[in-house]
Amino acid sequence: MAALGITVALLVWMATLMLISIWKQIYSSWKLPPGPFPLPIIGNLLQLDLKNVPKSFAKLAERYGPVFTLYLGSQRTVVLHGYKAVKEALLDHKNDLSGRGEIFAFQLHKDRGITFNNGPGWKDTRRLSLTMLRDFGMGKRGNEERIQREIPFLLEALRGTRGQPFDPTFLLGFAPCNVIADILFRKHFDYTDETGRRMQRLFNENFRLLSTGWLQLYNIFPSYLHYLPGSHWKMLRNVSEIKDYTSARVKEHQRSLDAGCPRDFTDCLLLELQKERYSSEPWFTLDNIAVTVADLFFAGTETTSTTLRYGLLVLMKYPEVEEKLHEEIDRVIGPSRIPAIKDRLEMPYMDAVVHEIQRFIDLLPSNLPHEANRDTVFRGYIIPKGTVVIPTLDSLLFDKQEFPDPETFKPEHFLNENGKFKYSDYFKAFSAGKKREDVGRVFPGNCPSFPLSAVVKHLYGGPDVFLPSTEGWPPHSESCLSFS
Ligand code: HEM
Repeated sequence: MAALGITVALLVWMATLMLISIWKQIYSSWKLPPGPFPLPIIGNLLQLDLKNVPKSFAKLAERYGPVFTLYLGSQRTVVLHGYKAVKEALLDHKNDLSGRGEIFAFQLHKDRGITFNNGPGWKDTRRLSLTMLRDFGMGKRGNEERIQREIPFLLEALRGTRGQPFDPTFLLGFAPCNVIADILFRKHFDYTDETGRRMQRLFNENFRLLSTGWLQLYNIFPSYLHYLPGSHWKMLRNVSEIKDYTSARVKEHQRSLDAGCPRDFTDCLLLELQKERYSSEPWFTLDNIAVTVADLFFAGTETTSTTLRYGLLVLMKYPEVEEKLHEEIDRVIGPSRIPAIKDRLEMPYMDAVVHEIQRFIDLLPSNLPHEANRDTVFRGYIIPKGTVVIPTLDSLLFDKQEFPDPETFKPEHFLNENGKFKYSDYFKAFSAGKKREDVGRVFPGNCPSFPLSAVVKHLYGGPDVFLPSTEGWPPHSESCLSFS
């Protein structure tokens, strides 16, 4: 009996050694960046706190350096930490590392649209969308006016709260939601509109769910966890509902499309679809347009809305910052007109506060996952094709040298000794690299600064704040885009 026990123990021991040696062979067959030894099936999950992955990355970077390898389940992943490594990856290797790592909760968007597209049509969809957002009447002036036209609606809704406590989530969210909805499909939601609220609730819920431990785990083990009950089902349903909404808008537009009079972004894409050079492209479909619109609707609304909400929270916590900001708003904009882009030049403090809010709230600390498009030599290592690459952004935004005392909210991080705005190349809240970086950057200035000045002005400005009329909106809703 004892002999049998010893034999079994020996066999188990040998099998374990064999497994480790096979695993080591696979693992060391590439010149991968260093990293903790992965276990079969779960990889390096034990090294990660799924509730705070960015913090785990920072700890691992202390041990393995700014470029390290991790296995999330069986998915090989290279994490880049710190200014030099992230910049090198996003700028010097922008062609090699601009694929998109898969996010399974967005399966419905797979290989379609912009954000979650890793397929053959991504580049063209992105290029076409950017061209339209930039050139076709949605460039600087057009967007400035759009944002300015929205401000009275926001102020009116704020006034409606009559100084009582209120939840600002949807009220603030309607402003960016309407600006982007106007560009995409010429829609303006009333601030009590149920569909507008519903869309915002879905965006908001998805953003929150994406950072939960369960969704991170689901992304690592989608096939094991898919059929279990859990919040991934909610997320999948939400993604599908948003896409149904944008699909309905696209079909509506298709029915009333007039080639001589494109009304918005959706019309422009529908007209491209009719062109010969795209009509034969298998990726350019109505579904691709619906997903592109959904990507922009979600990304354009939730990011700006969350930034505004957290911005207000920060100002409540730092009344001395709000006071200085308010002084500058009163001095430059005054009580009787709406903020304009040109004001930014004379408002270094506002510029610094908005940058500091974006730095401090660290909206996407681990960026969106990239993927290596080809075997890539990086600092003497090889990052094999198909490896997920994570160019962390918090490692730049919280760099101790660039932003001394980084955990404290200090607009001075972006001001020089003369009180002028100080640019920092470490400010990469929108990522970088032209290939994959944030599409919202085509918007004039920093998107959140406009509505922020209006909100600050209203909340702290007293009764004499100018409130232009919101009557007659949307103006000439049937008119065509003026191509500028
Ligand atoms: C506070 C505002 C915003 C922040 C902090 C932000 C941040 C980001 C970041 C970090 C990425 C990932 C880039 C990468 O993969 O390297 C991204 C991607 C993207 N953003 Fe934004 N964004 C903001 C506003 C917007 C707006 C207003 C829009 C649209 C109108 C937008 C549309 C997109 C799209 C479409 C992508 C995917 C780009 C691609 O995969 O090619 N974002 N954003």
